[in-house]
Amino acid sequence: MRMPSALPTQVVIFGASGDLTARKLVPALFSAFLQGHLPVGTQVIGVARRPWDDAGFRTHLQGTVGKPAEHARWSEFLAAVRYVQTNLDTADDYRGLANALDGAAGTPVNRVFYLAIKPDLFLPAVTNMHAAGLLAQGENGPRRRVVVEKPFGSDLGSATVLNQSLLKLLGEDQLYRIDHYLGKETVQNTIVFRFRNAMFEPLWNQKYVELVQITVGEAIGMENGRGGFYDGAGAARDILQNHLLQVLALVAMEAPSSLQSKDIRDEKVKVLRALRGFDSLDPRKHIVRGQYEGYRAEPGVDPKSETETWIAARTFIDNWRWGGVPFLLRTGKHLPARFTSVKVQFRMPPHTLFGGPDECHLRPNAITLRIQPNDGIDLGFDVKEPGQGLIIQPAKLNFNYAERFQKPAPDAYERLLIDVINGDQALFIRSDEIEQSWRWTDSLRARMRDTPLYLYARNSWGPFAADDLFGSCEGKWVTG
Ligand code: BG6
Repeated sequence: MRMPSALPTQVVIFGASGDLTARKLVPALFSAFLQGHLPVGTQVIGVARRPWDDAGFRTHLQGTVGKPAEHARWSEFLAAVRYVQTNLDTADDYRGLANALDGAAGTPVNRVFYLAIKPDLFLPAVTNMHAAGLLAQGENGPRRRVVVEKPFGSDLGSATVLNQSLLKLLGEDQLYRIDHYLGKETVQNTIVFRFRNAMFEPLWNQKYVELVQITVGEAIGMENGRGGFYDGAGAARDILQNHLLQVLALVAMEAPSSLQSKDIRDEKVKVLRALRGFDSLDPRKHIVRGQYEGYRAEPGVDPKSETETWIAARTFIDNWRWGGVPFLLRTGKHLPARFTSVKVQFRMPPHTLFGGPDECHLRPNAITLRIQPNDGIDLGFDVKEPGQGLIIQPAKLNFNYAERFQKPAPDAYERLLIDVINGDQALFIRSDEIEQSWRWTDSLRARMRDTPLYLYARNSWGPFAADDLFGSCEGKWVTG
């Protein structure tokens, strides 16, 4: 639920000299500014160690943001951009920052602190902010909000400690754990599609759904020098624990009683809590992992690395709605195409009039939510081919966002930043969601070690062994 903010906002970006600021955050704020979505008087304040002044930071942005800098209104936006040099390790600097922010504001303002910094700096930065009084907010006074990027912890233990430590310094209502997948239009549309239309929801359960598969496929590998970071993470922690489980939660949750963030997040966390761990499952039948050929030679990667760049899991949601329905999750780097999709595959009719048992794998009825690219929805069914005899062919109804609306979707970061400014937490991850996601991911990672690490060719769909995660007649992986 969005409640437009009445007060002007200072968006304070820690890590202002970094890549995320130039590539995502500032372009998203600029676009929100163009659309009139920023409260009047909003300022963007860069914070980093570099010895810049306002002009120096503006020049830096000018050279790094790309297209926005060519826009006629860019200099108008830039006029509200400031810079405060701050050493994030130095507690004293935060008092200087607090003074500089007050000075720049002049009047009462809300503040959003965006921590675009290394995860090990989250807690020290918030501790110092707290000590300098930057997080204090009265009952009805201006708001102080903090946005943290992923990764939030690296397992259940570290995420729990981080949650506990942060929540001693600020309230859950001040903490916005970002997952940019939740800012994608088509991810949000999952809720609209399911709960605004009466004709799909009655089928959305174990009685009619046979299997659900969710893929986050990527064509890229270790571009932009990510090898070092990625090698310490791997596909399970980089994508499965967050983006993929968030999509799964929206696909599988019960209808929330309202669009208030509490109601939505309560329903999502119930799904995550019901996700079956792998402790009592045979890992070889439920987990397949792979590494693309040449990964070990990537800059920053250990030449003997066992890190998975591809992972698939067969999991279950142990609740009334989904009992017994396999959820097949998959993500990988260097696939032939970049695509994210959810395929909800329905059971065959109870009695077979057409086709023989050997066609059992066809499973024509499916709803595919195409999250990216070519965002849209497909509905699959079988039809009779015209002519003598009875030849049955698959057919599809397609909905395409681009065709239907003919306007570009806002970038995920734009939507999410506006939500933070307006104090709407519905598309951010709550502490219990993070912990439940790690619980499941930890159990997967613990058992993953008992499975072979398959090498797969770049530009392929990953290890063939993953086909065996489907039972007979359960279908196969989608490829786009
Ligand atoms: C990030 C991961 O969170 O998401 C990256 O760290 C990945 O490894 C990226 O490439 C994918 O995001 P998108 O929006 O391009 O699908």
